[in-house]
Amino acid sequence: MEIIKRTPQMKALAARLREEGHRIGFVPTMGALHAGHMSLMQRARQMSDIVVVSIFINPIQFGPSEDLDRYPRDLAHDAEICMSRGVDYIFAPLIDEVYPENFSSYVIVEGLSDRLCGASREGHFRGVTTVVSKLFNVVKPHFAFFGRKDAQQSVIIKRMVADLCMDPEIVVCPIVRDEDGLALSSRNVYLSAEERQAATVLHRSLEKVQVLFGAGTREAAVLQAAMEELIATEPLVRIDYIEIVDTRDLEPVQAIEDGRPVLIAVAAFVGKTRLIDNVVLNGEI
Ligand code: PAF
Repeated sequence: MEIIKRTPQMKALAARLREEGHRIGFVPTMGALHAGHMSLMQRARQMSDIVVVSIFINPIQFGPSEDLDRYPRDLAHDAEICMSRGVDYIFAPLIDEVYPENFSSYVIVEGLSDRLCGASREGHFRGVTTVVSKLFNVVKPHFAFFGRKDAQQSVIIKRMVADLCMDPEIVVCPIVRDEDGLALSSRNVYLSAEERQAATVLHRSLEKVQVLFGAGTREAAVLQAAMEELIATEPLVRIDYIEIVDTRDLEPVQAIEDGRPVLIAVAAFVGKTRLIDNVVLNGEI
């Protein structure tokens, strides 16, 4: 496995690999790798000849009051994880090459980026789509792998790729959970033991919704109220939003219709840590 830090080097390598007929699988990350990322690497390994993982903490997707400064950083540990999963290259670009002086081009997926997490994290998805576009141009992947935990991110990236005729096929992989049901996230390390226990209510609320759906409940308001009621039992948890939306346009639905894939997404602060989780009913993203 090789770690590449220079963008021109990664670009030239990707061009050569393509010319030689290799299928490039790409897992974009911000590091702090966990089993969720490993599952993406594993899927990439199955579908591609060459696996590239990028590690880049993208400053422009963090808001001014967010956790950019304390976001966990450990390249050596991340490299060990990548090596154990058979990754061929880590691309860990230099900040000055990603955002040189006078950088002024951004990619915005309008509409989709303002809803759900976008409503409370202004500019977040502009940062994501800009850096992912740039990484796609450098790594030139045939496939790019994203976790469904960041469901809105996956929907937005799929739309960006379709709208702008980008090459990669976007592969959305299942959420990986800890034994207690908590969705894996690099931000889970911020939680105290008490907060961690409380945070499992997000997963439990989604399970409750699935049980209600299985028993025939279709009204979004009823499902949402059931989630709110359960989450309210955990004083350490404060809901940012619960949304029940169509997976394609992220428009709210009043009732879940047969055959129409619907995303039920929750974001909440557990202490100071903002966590997200979701379930998709009637299909996938
Ligand atoms: O999901 C993430 O870790 C980030 O949003 C991504 C896709 C690597 C872009 O910085």
